[in-house]
Amino acid sequence: MAPFHSFLSLLWLLLCGVANAQGLDQPIAQSNKAVRFEITLTWEEWSATGAPRKMILTNGQFPAPALQLCQGDNVEFLVTNKLPVASAVHFHGISQTGTPWSDGVPGLSQKPIPPGGQFLYKWRATEYGSYFYHAHSRGQVEDGLYGAIYIRPDDTIKRPFKLIADDENDLRAMRKAEDQTRPIILSDWRQVTSEEMWRVQKETGLEAYCVNALLINGKGSVNCLGEKALDEATTPEHRMILGKQSLSDIGCMPPTLVQGDYPHNLTDVPSSFWSGCVPSQGAHERVSVQPFDKYVSYDLIGAAGLAMTVFSIDEHPMWIYAVDGRYVEPAKADSLIIANGNRYSVLVALDKPAGDYTIRVANQGINQIINSTAVMSYTSPPKNPRRASTPSIDITGVPLGKHTVLNDNKLVPFPVEVPSQDVAQTHPPTLPRARHPLLFHPDSGPKDLTISTQNGTWVDLVFAAVRPLQPPHPFHKHSNKFFVIGAGDGEWNYTSVADAVRHRPGDFNLKTPQIRDTATTPPAATGPTWMAIRYHVVNPGAFLLHCHIQVHLTGGMGVVLLDGVDEWPEIPEEYREVEAL
Ligand SMILES: *[C@@H]1O[C@H](CO)[C@@H](O)[C@H](O)[C@H]1NC(C)=O
Ligand SMILES: *[C@@H]1O[C@H](CO)[C@@H](O)[C@H](O)[C@H]1NC(C)=O
Ligand SMILES: *[C@@H]1O[C@H](CO)[C@@H](O)[C@H](O)[C@H]1NC(C)=O
Ligand SMILES: *[C@@H]1O[C@H](CO)[C@@H](O)[C@H](O)[C@H]1NC(C)=O
Repeated sequence: MAPFHSFLSLLWLLLCGVANAQGLDQPIAQSNKAVRFEITLTWEEWSATGAPRKMILTNGQFPAPALQLCQGDNVEFLVTNKLPVASAVHFHGISQTGTPWSDGVPGLSQKPIPPGGQFLYKWRATEYGSYFYHAHSRGQVEDGLYGAIYIRPDDTIKRPFKLIADDENDLRAMRKAEDQTRPIILSDWRQVTSEEMWRVQKETGLEAYCVNALLINGKGSVNCLGEKALDEATTPEHRMILGKQSLSDIGCMPPTLVQGDYPHNLTDVPSSFWSGCVPSQGAHERVSVQPFDKYVSYDLIGAAGLAMTVFSIDEHPMWIYAVDGRYVEPAKADSLIIANGNRYSVLVALDKPAGDYTIRVANQGINQIINSTAVMSYTSPPKNPRRASTPSIDITGVPLGKHTVLNDNKLVPFPVEVPSQDVAQTHPPTLPRARHPLLFHPDSGPKDLTISTQNGTWVDLVFAAVRPLQPPHPFHKHSNKFFVIGAGDGEWNYTSVADAVRHRPGDFNLKTPQIRDTATTPPAATGPTWMAIRYHVVNPGAFLLHCHIQVHLTGGMGVVLLDGVDEWPEIPEEYREVEAL
């Protein structure tokens, strides 16, 4: 197998790099070149945290290799499945305009790729920014199939960097940092495989709501914090639920407290599921930076199956300049919450004394206290090598010292886009288990789990978290991005968004709404909450809308959007369903 990374970078420098050599102000037309990637999936022992387990490796690697593309590239992505089970690969956030058969969702856009089989995905990188690809078959994303995608914007796209600094040197440094942006993949890790987890969940009625480690670029450790540290870190919110009980030795809420009113049988829960800490030490991620560069850019990618995490770099505030692959007016913050499926691109000024600075990641929910660290290291020799950086957050993600937490609701797209006020349908959505992909048989889906739309119309979707003690749900929509137009507390008892706007205008933003592909419902801790999104139907096909917490998706938290049923696409010969004999 050709070395995937060097092959990609070479392509990128040769073809996207041309514009840089010509200077910043000479726009080039969108690329239209063909790029091909080949990946092979294998099921192998891997010690991400020092403790071995079977994982999915992609070309022998974990995480899967990063793809670097130019906006406009025509991508061919060949998957060879050498796993013992069927699989499929989804390109998260990629709109798949005109190629709904390459979205990678078994039951919707394809049949799963059988063991020994191959599948060629073809799509165009129409939009710029940070994305990722991951398994979309059963719980396999939790077995390690995920990798970064970066699509370099073409030079006609206006960057928002002047809003950070207007100085020529700074602008040049920020553009260079963006050109060399690097992924930081945030994920979680369990001792058990996804299939074992599914089996235990079914047999015990216990949702697997805790993990054994948080990973940064695939590296981490199982750290047993100990009773004292856990006690100290227990917050009043934990206490409210815990009463006299304590967190388990993996920092997890006892299952008797947080599960729903259905039968449980906890006699046979394997060790590691919610308690039973066995420490192990894996590699520690180090990213090095050149102070002479003045800035570094990171694409923070929320690839966790379960954990929603707080991210920060000691002593280094971040300029958040893009979210879900779309520029925003840069917002400065010391920490931000990264939900499952979200991507945040950040610029960091390298203006501190040379040295090592701790990158901190902490679980954000009350389900578990668990954290992880990495190091951002200046390449020049530190003057005072022993100096430890000043922690920006504690192990529960709580800010320390003078600190700004990013407020997503205040993010303004760059440039702003305004959705239509004229909406054809409003749906409060409530996974199909179709034997045949719905793209080929759009009439075969269960009616209560599918939403059919007309092409060219605007659609509102309202998510209502009706029962209390629900975590925030990060909802991801396949195909094109949507506008987050409102969110609030209380019951959604309105017939339409227009009706709701009349009653509670303060909960809506129709002037500068965020443009995203994954957005999170407000936590429903004490009462119900809701979130409203609006999207334009432009790309006929069968697309999934689902919670990106993997155990919630496997548990059924998803619906199908049959977009543009009036303009249903003609399926190319090579993607048509072959009738099984
Ligand atoms: C609970 O599970 C155990 C082990 O799987 C089994 O022996 C037992 O009968 C179960 N109890 C109930 C009440 O179902
Ligand atoms: C969690 O944070 C603590 C306190 O900063 C640190 O000692 C520990 O190493 C962190 N855990 C991991 C797995 O990095
Ligand atoms: C669907 O609607 C969009 C937006 O109006 C339009 O650009 C596109 O061409 C339409 N697609 C088809 C297949 O008609
Ligand atoms: C909707 O419910 C809220 C309470 O959550 C109530 O105050 C309000 O009057 C209700 N609105 C309508 C239109 O029924």
